Parts: sequence; structure tokens; C-alpha cells
Amino acid sequence: MAKMVELEKLEKHFKISKGMFDTDHRVVRAVDQVSLSIEEGEIVGLVGESGSGKTTLARVLLSLTKMTGGKAMIDGVDLSRATKKDMKKLHREIAVVFQDPASNLNPRQTVESSIMRPMVIHGVPRAEAQNKAKEVLDMVKMDRRYLDSFPHQLSGGQLQRIAIARALALSPKIMILDEPTSALDVSVQAQILNLLLDLQEKMNLTYLVITHDLNVIRYISDKIAVMYLGKLVEFGPTEEVTGHPKHPYTKGLMDAAPILDPRLRGREKELMKGDPGSLINIGTGCRFFARCKYATSECEKEDPEILSAGNGHQVACLHPLKIEP
Ligand SMILES: Nc1ncnc2c1ncn2[C@@H]1O[C@H](COP(=O)(O)OP(=O)(O)OP(=O)(O)O)[C@@H](O)[C@H]1O
Ligand SMILES: [Mg+2]
Repeated sequence: MAKMVELEKLEKHFKISKGMFDTDHRVVRAVDQVSLSIEEGEIVGLVGESGSGKTTLARVLLSLTKMTGGKAMIDGVDLSRATKKDMKKLHREIAVVFQDPASNLNPRQTVESSIMRPMVIHGVPRAEAQNKAKEVLDMVKMDRRYLDSFPHQLSGGQLQRIAIARALALSPKIMILDEPTSALDVSVQAQILNLLLDLQEKMNLTYLVITHDLNVIRYISDKIAVMYLGKLVEFGPTEEVTGHPKHPYTKGLMDAAPILDPRLRGREKELMKGDPGSLINIGTGCRFFARCKYATSECEKEDPEILSAGNGHQVACLHPLKIEP
């Protein structure tokens, strides 16, 4: 299988200052030394608490923001050395669907013009774009009569189908789905997930699905990537990571499954004790140190690298959890 996405120690650090004359620049290590490979046709679920860097990672892949370190290869193109021609190819190849239908679609545009927009930008002739708009609407199982509708006339599920249709318009190879179902009712969520699975299979798409919802991840993903404060702490096949989590943070997530979503917090027991900590001016040790019940004095000093733990499973922990017999 070909590698679609290959990240090597990818970094996105933001410098923040309090004002023009502030010389005390602080650094937010939103994505820090993330190494990760995604094969063609694979569905990788990316989980982690709010602020762990999931969207920032997606924005780097989408070239919406520049990386500040490391390397990202996408379908053979090195992002930091890409020519204009490479970027044009990548813009066609990677599509995105966000959580909020409102941020996916312009309220003043009909469904047809929304779907056609990326094609028009890429110079697809109008007639061809119009045909393709019909085709992609069929693919997301929506009636063609909706082409003339405006976003406010549609339900959340329909809007998300339109956003997916638009993402498909340029025949992408990779789709980044940032919380694609979390704004939807549970019954509609399943329909959208099934549609995504169906499309993935038909077109051999590669997905990076970002979500707080472990049930979504379990349902849809081949592999799971877990981020904690900008770091990739665990990665591997879904059954491995959910069945035998090796990082104490992942274990905590699995034990407290439904409460990752900040909107649901308080309804269930606390995810983990302690404060998630800050991304600003982080010390040298493991970022999970303060919350980890297995932490030793080594963990305070050493930031563990992500290493193979067998069965395609990788973990960044000095004391990975053993599989219980
Ligand atoms: N433009 C920016 N400037 C400074 N800091 C930023 C910027 N964008 C993101 N950050 C910071 O980077 C960190 C990661 O943010 P990000 O949005 O990637 O998290 P996330 O995992 O997507 O969270 P959520 O689950 O809430 O969507 C946060 O601390 C955030 O405040
Ligand atoms: Mg996000």
C-alpha cells in the first residue's frame, strides 16, 4: 500500500505576545514532533481533548497554516518544498468537511453554487461543473431538486451531505473530516457515518476523522491516533488501541468514553483527575506527568518518544501499560 500522508516530527508552534512591545514571546506548541503515516484507503481516527492540536494538525495538512518544523509528505509531495503546481495538485487531492455546516456553506449561495465553487476556482468549465454537481449530489444520496435550495431550507444532516458532496467535487484522494457528525442528532449521525464509509469504500478514499466521540472512532476507523497537548501519544489499529491501550492517557479516555466532548462535560464523571495543563512553555518531561498515576521521577525529566510496541501499535510512554492476562 502506498503512503498517503507521512509526517516526520511535524511541528506547529505559535508565537504569542501580549502586544507590540512585548519581548517576552511565549510559544504555544500546538503540534509538537508528530510522526505518523497514513496508508492509501485507510481511515484514521484522531482523538484527544479540546486543545490537543487536532485541528491545527489538520490545518497544516490542508496548507491553511504553515508548519514550523519537521516534514509532511502528502501523496509524494513534500509540503515545505511544494511548487505552485504541487500545491494545485494537493488542493484538489485533499478535501475537508468541518463540524459546523454553517462554516462549510455560504448561506447566500444555492446548493448548486456551493458545490460548484471549488470546481470553478480550479478552472473546471461551467457545464462540466454543473454536471459534476448533480453527480456528487447523487453520490451523497440527495435528490437533485435540492440544487436550488439555500442552506437555511435544509436540515443539519442534509447540510452535512451537501458539504460532503462539495468535498467530493474535485475527486479528492484524502478527506479530512473535523467532527463531521458532532453537530447532528444521534440518529442522523449514523446515517452520515454510513454514507462516509460507503463513499470511502467505493472510491478508496483516505480519511482522517477528527472527533471527541470514541464511539464514532470505533465505528469508522481502521486506526486510532491519540493526541495529548500537541503530542501524538498512541497510534495503532483500532482494536489494539481500544482493546489494549498502552498509554495511561488513552486508558483514561477509554474508561471515560462519552465525556470527551466539552459540551457533555459535567454530565458524567470527570475524565481524569487534574488539570490538562498548558501548552505554553512546556517543561522537559512527559506532558501527562502531572495527571498520570503511573508517573515516576524519570517521567518528569524525560519526554518519551513514540516507539513501536508490536502489532502495529506505537506508544510514547516510559512505562506503557501491560496487557492484562
Ligand atoms: N492561531 C493560533 N494562535 C495561537 N494559538 C493557537 C492558534 N490556533 C490554535 N492555537 C492553540 O493551539 C492549541 C491547539 O488548538 P486546536 O484547535 O488545534 O485544538 P483541537 O484539538 O482541535 O481542540 P478542539 O477539540 O477544541 O477542536 C490550543 O491551545 C489553541 O489555543
Ligand atoms: Mg478542533
